[in-house]
Amino acid sequence: MNDIIIIDGLVKKYGDKTAIDNLNLRIRHGELFGFLGPNGAGKTTTVRCVATLTGYNSGTIIVDGFDIKKDPTEAKNRMGVIQQQISLDKDLTVMENMVSHAMYHMMAKREREGKIKELSDYFGLNEYLEMPVDSLSGGWKKRVAIVCAVLHEPKVLFLDEPTSGLDINARRLLWDVVRSLNRKGTTIFLTTHYIEEAEALCDRVGIIDQGRVIALDEPKKLCDAMGSTAVEYMSEKKTQYRYFQSRDEAKVFVSSLDSEENVLIRNINLEDVFVELTGKSVGAQK
Ligand SMILES: Nc1ncnc2c1ncn2[C@@H]1O[C@H](COP(=O)(O)OP(=O)(O)O)[C@@H](O)[C@H]1O
Ligand SMILES: [Mg+2]
Repeated sequence: MNDIIIIDGLVKKYGDKTAIDNLNLRIRHGELFGFLGPNGAGKTTTVRCVATLTGYNSGTIIVDGFDIKKDPTEAKNRMGVIQQQISLDKDLTVMENMVSHAMYHMMAKREREGKIKELSDYFGLNEYLEMPVDSLSGGWKKRVAIVCAVLHEPKVLFLDEPTSGLDINARRLLWDVVRSLNRKGTTIFLTTHYIEEAEALCDRVGIIDQGRVIALDEPKKLCDAMGSTAVEYMSEKKTQYRYFQSRDEAKVFVSSLDSEENVLIRNINLEDVFVELTGKSVGAQK
């Protein structure tokens, strides 16, 4: 079986509001998958449904061959989650948080101690182990959350907007960590509203809007499907966008404009794909 996660016909409502609207999605074993969409699109809700943190109205979710409703324990043991709002216990120390996560997954003491040592070394956390989590900066808290989430060696790791609020150095570091876990064989399901994050990191990207997957492919293929070159120009006091198969076609168009001032010719990126599909910008609803 090539797919580690199979989501079929997922519907999740909050009262009258349909947050996830018949969503279908398959994640391949070992891939680094990016779920890209604006705030409110349904990314967190999808992650929470798959990770068994919330229920859903209808549909089927299979994780590594286990239906999460029929075999929740088997499914849970294959997943690790780093939630958008980090769910560490702030009053406990770093070590206490790690131990409590290991115990949740019923790891034996010996195995737990070995794994905590290995991961603390890897993430440079040794000198922080006895400190309360709350005294750490956002980037360090994120590392603790990652260690907790991967202690039980999940096959698939969910990271919900892992780099939101991190400075550029912490973001780059996190990208390295995600790549390295992925190279070691962990399937990654990462949500983001940062275009450059999806482009830089992900093997495949799913674009989600209003609770539905509206596009799914490798980032480059999503862009190539729209053409090669974008032209941004001012018209009626607004920035307008036009897309072309080649730079030459774009130049012909630009020469037909009244003025070549404020005209930008550039490669098509994922943001263009998003705008074209939804009529809105990924960042706009932030
Ligand atoms: N606990 C909740 N109660 C009511 N509505 C919610 C709740 N959580 C999310 N929603 C709504 O569901 C939709 C999807 O939200 P969410 O999954 O958080 O989106 P994203 O993570 O992509 O920003 C939004 O319209 C949001 O307002
Ligand atoms: Mg979210």
